[in-house]
Amino acid sequence: MTIGIFYIVIGLYVIAISYFHFKYPEMRWNWDNISTDKISFPQSFIWGTATAAHQVEGNCTNNWSEFEKGTKDGGQPNIKDNQQSGIACDHWNRYPEDIKLIRELGVTHYRFSVEWSKIQPKQETFDVDVLDHYSKMIDTLIENNITPVLTLQHFTHPIWFDRLGAFEKEENINIFISFCERVFEEYSGKVDYWCTINEPAVVATQGYFSGRFPPGKKDSDLSAVVLKNFLEAHVQVYHTLKKMENGSRVKIGLVKNINQFDPWRRWHLLDWLISSAVNHFFNDSTIEFLRTGIFKIRIPGLAWIYHENPGAIGSIDFFGLNYYSHNHLKMQFSVEEPFTMQYPDEDILTDMPYTIYGEGIYRAIEDVSSLGVPIIITENGVADSEDNRRELYIKRYLYAVSKAIENGFDIRGYFYWSLIDNFEWSFGYDMKFGLFEVNHTTQERTLRRGAKTFIDIVRDET
Ligand code: GCO
Repeated sequence: MTIGIFYIVIGLYVIAISYFHFKYPEMRWNWDNISTDKISFPQSFIWGTATAAHQVEGNCTNNWSEFEKGTKDGGQPNIKDNQQSGIACDHWNRYPEDIKLIRELGVTHYRFSVEWSKIQPKQETFDVDVLDHYSKMIDTLIENNITPVLTLQHFTHPIWFDRLGAFEKEENINIFISFCERVFEEYSGKVDYWCTINEPAVVATQGYFSGRFPPGKKDSDLSAVVLKNFLEAHVQVYHTLKKMENGSRVKIGLVKNINQFDPWRRWHLLDWLISSAVNHFFNDSTIEFLRTGIFKIRIPGLAWIYHENPGAIGSIDFFGLNYYSHNHLKMQFSVEEPFTMQYPDEDILTDMPYTIYGEGIYRAIEDVSSLGVPIIITENGVADSEDNRRELYIKRYLYAVSKAIENGFDIRGYFYWSLIDNFEWSFGYDMKFGLFEVNHTTQERTLRRGAKTFIDIVRDET
């Protein structure tokens, strides 16, 4: 009898594992047999590069600059080696010179964000000089034949908004909407592409689950609430802006980082369960919400939430896809840290904790194509201080994008992250994503060797 039950349990285990194994294969291409030079992009394809205000401008006083001064519970600094964003790349003053760099790349589009804390230093004040500054920057881009792509919220917000509870509270969404309306009023006559919020799931998980981003909390239920509020904010901003002057003319999208979570041990049910739970939270809940208007996270013991807004359906004119890599998760018995990240020996690691995985961008495109809207790759790039993997990274990922286009996926553009080395959040200035290296003492910019691959591809494909 007991032996019978034993065999039944083993049998069910094997069936469950085989089901997962075949239903969710980890796509792997044999790169030795692939010629990454065989690529082709449509004539109308958008080529660009990207930055975000806090990472490049300098002199920001916001929730991040506050966080940069702090330490974690154990006393370690919030940012690696106590670094602070400070003057950053002085892009605030040096944008005319940086626009020349964009031109040097041969690209035609620049994705940047506006800094909410500078535009609205107090809840009741909009700073007209700051609004004027961005207006001039947009004009300079246009004069240089560079199309501006504006992100309204890229991780940072004013300290006064933080004190009100930021995106932890649904009632604060209206405050964000008023800011967006003002910015849209100012620039929608000359900016055709708008990104509402950058990577809501990253802020929700890093800020409220791992504690690596401000406010440094570790509360999985709150993390789900913040994600819900961000997505709700996106939907409301989208519909508000669409009703304004120029609203029907411009394209408005949400930017989402897809990062697949694959099981470390493909024969281990617990690794499957944890990776599918994290995928469900991080990736699928957002895509489902945009597709069906229903936002739900169902992870017993970690997060349980249900929210409906039919307005989410049709709330994007394009899907802004940020893609870097995937992660392998190994389950461990700890509520605080239910998994660890693992890296296969045979994979090429980048300076960030992720590997080069070109197949992943193809998988991500497949996943988000279910939304039926054009996809723009709003970020893709590699931190590579030695500059000995950038070329390979660019070639593999662009090969995958080209293959996806060939297979019929509607991808309209690609923005390399980033134009220049910049403040990489909790990693500080150590991560070198730039096509141009920045000497942070002299602010001198130098084109990286690996960037030439990108320049060549853009030149050959336009
Ligand atoms: C993000 C942001 C960027 C990062 C980039 C590299 O994805 O975290 O959009 O601000 O700098 O992704 O990690």
